[in-house]
Amino acid sequence: MELPLPGLWLKRLWVVFQVALHVAMGKVLMTFFPGRVKQDILAMSQKTGMAKNPHFSHENWIPTFFSAQYFWFVLKVRWQRLEDKTEEGGLAPNCPVVRLSGQRCNIWDFMQDGWAFKNNVDIKNHQNLQDRLQAAHLLLDRNPQCPVVVDTMKNQSSQLYAALPERLYVLQAGRILYKGKPGPWNYHPEEVRAVLEKLHS
Ligand SMILES: *[C@@H]1O[C@H](CO)[C@@H](O)[C@H](O)[C@H]1NC(C)=O
Repeated sequence: MELPLPGLWLKRLWVVFQVALHVAMGKVLMTFFPGRVKQDILAMSQKTGMAKNPHFSHENWIPTFFSAQYFWFVLKVRWQRLEDKTEEGGLAPNCPVVRLSGQRCNIWDFMQDGWAFKNNVDIKNHQNLQDRLQAAHLLLDRNPQCPVVVDTMKNQSSQLYAALPERLYVLQAGRILYKGKPGPWNYHPEEVRAVLEKLHS
């Protein structure tokens, strides 16, 4: 899957065009048919996990669609996916991550039990590791039943696992056992549950 650099830049350019078109069309539709666009987005979120999250009001996110920030974020996500290095059954990248104590380690360090749960926590732009560790406490406050680590500021884990905005993987013995689709639209925690239950049966 290694692309020669000029090929990669051509693909990136093509993605810029696609995302720009998507945002421009979304903006035009949102301006002329706001009710209809809102309905469509809501219908899409019903089909996926988005609407099931009680902490997530659609009033919080629909108005942010098709803004300049939205454009840059979608572009970042789509560019990252061009360099996705992971596949089910393939080697799991052993990226550096940081424990909440600040201690550095690697993703594979969590495979001593035979499996690991990868939680990707990414809140607003962290300027430094301190911000990132602080953001991770939002997750810790919910008492997750697994170790929590954060990416380093080089964002290697996010990059190599094409994890933006959020993604679930199950790793076992250095390989990728399960690769979830990207959230929030195609994010299926219940698939992870099924994989883990099968592992333990
Ligand atoms: C890593 O991600 C953060 C946002 O969470 C960003 O501010 C930072 O610039 C990124 N670092 C690199 C090396 O891209």
